[in-house]
Amino acid sequence: MLRLGVLASGRGSNLEALLKSCDKSKNGARIAVVLTDNPKAKALTIAQEYNVPAFFVDPKACSKAEFNQSLVSRLKTYDVDLVVLAGYMRILDSGFIQAFSGKVINIHPSLLPAFPGLNAQRQALTSGVKYSGCTVHYVDEGMDTGPIIAQAVVPVLPEDTEEELAQRILAEEHILLPKVVDWIAEGKVRLQGRKVIINN
Ligand code: GRF
Repeated sequence: MLRLGVLASGRGSNLEALLKSCDKSKNGARIAVVLTDNPKAKALTIAQEYNVPAFFVDPKACSKAEFNQSLVSRLKTYDVDLVVLAGYMRILDSGFIQAFSGKVINIHPSLLPAFPGLNAQRQALTSGVKYSGCTVHYVDEGMDTGPIIAQAVVPVLPEDTEEELAQRILAEEHILLPKVVDWIAEGKVRLQGRKVIINN
């Protein structure tokens, strides 16, 4: 069974999509623990509703390295095989990335490498692209720069507001992230240098 540790800073809709798909899936991926850097994150309540252990780790209580180390030790305590960043708003430090080398994935609301970082939907609207979408990728030490596992595309419509585009992308995120976790649980995803090979 693939044991997941989910890091989330806010609303938690991707966490909820994962919780639902893990309930249904036959491949045995399970969320072992949820961690947040925000005591008010709705992700905490969602995890509790699904009876998943969930903890707030205070980033202001210690140095950046110590904070990252406390995340790592919580995840190790819960024997986590794969870390999923689902709306986690902090950069992980190199200590964290090394502790879970090749075992951290993130969901981002654009077709990377376009529009990394914050406000990806606003960046897409401003740039005038006709298509955007979401990307699930492995996490390295850069900002949304790791090897791409999978993407889903949505149209950008002429009259779109940021919120409308974000909602259209989010609907795809809720499908793509659980799908990638399933593939990983089924051993279908292999990292070869910066390329990701999927054996479907
Ligand atoms: C999503 O758009 C995700 O792609 C981005 O942050 C947002 C998190 O939303 N990284 P939620 O907390 O999962 O609802």
